[in-house]
Amino acid sequence: MEPFRFHLFVCTQQKPEGIPSCPASGSFAVLDALDREIQARGLDNDMQLTTCGCMGLCDEGPVMVVYPAGVWYRRVQPSDVPEIVGTHVGDGKPVDRLVWNDAPAMKAMSVEHREKFRAAMAAREKAGVLPDRLDQMIRGYMPSRCILTALELDIFTAVGDGANAEQIGTKIHANARAAGMLLNALVALGLLSKSGDDYKNTPESARFFVQGSKDNHRNGLLHTANIWHRWSTLTDAVRSGTRVPIDRDPDHKDDRDDNPAWTRNFITAMQRHAKDRAPLVVKALGTAGVRRILDLGGGSGAYSIAFAKAGPDVQCEILDIPEVVPLTAGYVRQAGVLAQVSLRAGDMLQDDFGSGYDIIMLNAICHMFSEEQNRDIFRRAHQALAPNGRLVVQDFILNPDKTGPLHAALFSLNMLVNTDVGASYSEVEYTHWMKAAGFTDVCRINLPGPSGLIVGLA
Ligand SMILES: C[S@@+](CC[C@H](N)C(=O)[O-])C[C@H]1O[C@@H](n2cnc3c(N)ncnc32)[C@H](O)[C@@H]1O
Ligand code: FES
Repeated sequence: MEPFRFHLFVCTQQKPEGIPSCPASGSFAVLDALDREIQARGLDNDMQLTTCGCMGLCDEGPVMVVYPAGVWYRRVQPSDVPEIVGTHVGDGKPVDRLVWNDAPAMKAMSVEHREKFRAAMAAREKAGVLPDRLDQMIRGYMPSRCILTALELDIFTAVGDGANAEQIGTKIHANARAAGMLLNALVALGLLSKSGDDYKNTPESARFFVQGSKDNHRNGLLHTANIWHRWSTLTDAVRSGTRVPIDRDPDHKDDRDDNPAWTRNFITAMQRHAKDRAPLVVKALGTAGVRRILDLGGGSGAYSIAFAKAGPDVQCEILDIPEVVPLTAGYVRQAGVLAQVSLRAGDMLQDDFGSGYDIIMLNAICHMFSEEQNRDIFRRAHQALAPNGRLVVQDFILNPDKTGPLHAALFSLNMLVNTDVGASYSEVEYTHWMKAAGFTDVCRINLPGPSGLIVGLA
């Protein structure tokens, strides 16, 4: 049975470098071209496009199969895609010049491939070779470091519409030979292209990494570059139980202390995540009966801004540290909701919260603090809420045994290297602390993405 008229499988099996594979022959570009062509022709509802693993014909890649007839195509290139979609999917006639229908030869190749693969795996197992999966995980910092350095040096902007290593090196005040090595690695990572001596941005890097582009993420990503330095202290942080200075000198001022650029990058990064999530949170909580909201550690103000836009009667108050409030003010002004969102500089661990709120929000806050600090915030929030007001915690919430989800487990270490006492916490913990503070009807609301909500009623 086929729910669609056609079902296209494209092999995207990744293999170690140097071993023939469909991705090495360009199957991701074919997949992308198929998706675009299918949409352009309005054929989405006629067919299903699916990626699949190795079909044993790796020397002939990219390989794809079209069902229900089971037509096998080999060596497909993006330039073949309009013909395949138009002739095969549109008119029901396979593109003969790309079809491979020599079943005995295909079976022989597939069987030979399988035997070779099994023999190679057995030999590696016997020789005690480190599995590729582990090796890739261990060396995962290399691509990450290349991109972060390129962002720090603003290389993608320097590449502009095209330039050679010497020109780019001069623009970013770097050594031309070393810049060339980094540029070549960025080509290998698929973030630049190279023709002769000239480098060019890919459409993706031009869109996301170049100054002046509407969707430029560089400033927010520089926060990840800052965090990278802190992650290099993980070994010492695990030994000591808390964050340690980056250069191990106890008198050394940390990169983040009194550093306006660090704070600006941090809040830009927070805004990048929060602006997409804020409408989901507003939808999950609703604005019915909501007049006053306290947004503790509101950062860029994205959540208050979203609430203000969703309900003209909603008044929000953001409490954040003095260094951040001027940045928050910029976002609130830009959103045009100054009349509904007020700002207060202070310390949520010390300051009185006020009273009569319908919602108190803790978006991405609790992970900065210890259990005792969170319990204290929850207690004071309970007193500050109106009857039936809600305390809302949004965070990366761990499973009861704290071994997952992966993002939350890794984020806990992010807090170890970045804060004195922070960590990711589990739903069990949040629920327990809220109930101890006097909240009832504590429930979890799942959101798309890595974070979730825990909501309690005062
Ligand atoms: C991880 S950010 C979250 C920002 C925002 N809620 C969001 O989700 O986008 C943490 C925020 O808490 C603020 N913050 C940290 N410690 C604070 C304190 N003691 N009092 C008030 N705000 C604080 C930070 O300045 C920052 O804006
Ligand atoms: S990698 Fe595609 S058929 Fe083997």
